[in-house]
Amino acid sequence: YENQQNIVWHQGQITKIQRQSLLGETPSTLWLTGLSASGKSTLAYVLEHTLVNAGKPCYVLDGDNIRHGLNSGLGFSQQDRHENIRRISEVAKLMNDAGLIVITAFISPLREDRQMARAIIGEAYFKEVYVSTAIDVCESRDPKGLYAKARAGEVKEFTGISAPYEPPLNPDLVIDTSQLTMADHLDKLMNLALSKAI
Ligand code: ADX
Repeated sequence: YENQQNIVWHQGQITKIQRQSLLGETPSTLWLTGLSASGKSTLAYVLEHTLVNAGKPCYVLDGDNIRHGLNSGLGFSQQDRHENIRRISEVAKLMNDAGLIVITAFISPLREDRQMARAIIGEAYFKEVYVSTAIDVCESRDPKGLYAKARAGEVKEFTGISAPYEPPLNPDLVIDTSQLTMADHLDKLMNLALSKAI
């Protein structure tokens, strides 16, 4: 862009490592991906609650919430989803840099876009969690009635029905919320969240 020509990167004097030692955290991003109603947001907020109670500063970036503010104006075309993921990745990177553990809950259906997220956030800080709950379970939950609308053709480009979902090939963790208990899932998520990023 033309307006980027007169902008230079200002290097601050505080390193990520210094902030990290101040907060005592390894500030990674847990990137939750999965279908609508697979349980991403529920897992993210329960994990956040548990981390905060353990004195670990963290923050949830959630699809529905971010689309009300930062990303209002973006729809569900591949191009808009790409821009959605790009902006969120930049925010997650800043939050990691500030010393926070970040938990994201976006469908993020395309491998290519999650690869971009990994590249922006940094290989060492990006931890991919596949919320693998099967589509028939998600559809039977249908908390917002969107699967029904998608089947009826009232919602276009709906992930899993009329738009693709590409499962991760090599996720750090797989969670099927129709199996086991929340306590089991939470154990695994806590281990991953607190594992060393570098
Ligand atoms: S993403 O594909 O760009 O990562 P994001 O997680 O931000 O999606 O938003 C998904 C949420 O938007 C869904 O949980 C659902 O509530 C709502 N939504 C509305 N229209 C669609 C659609 N066409 N496809 C998927 N989700 C949709």
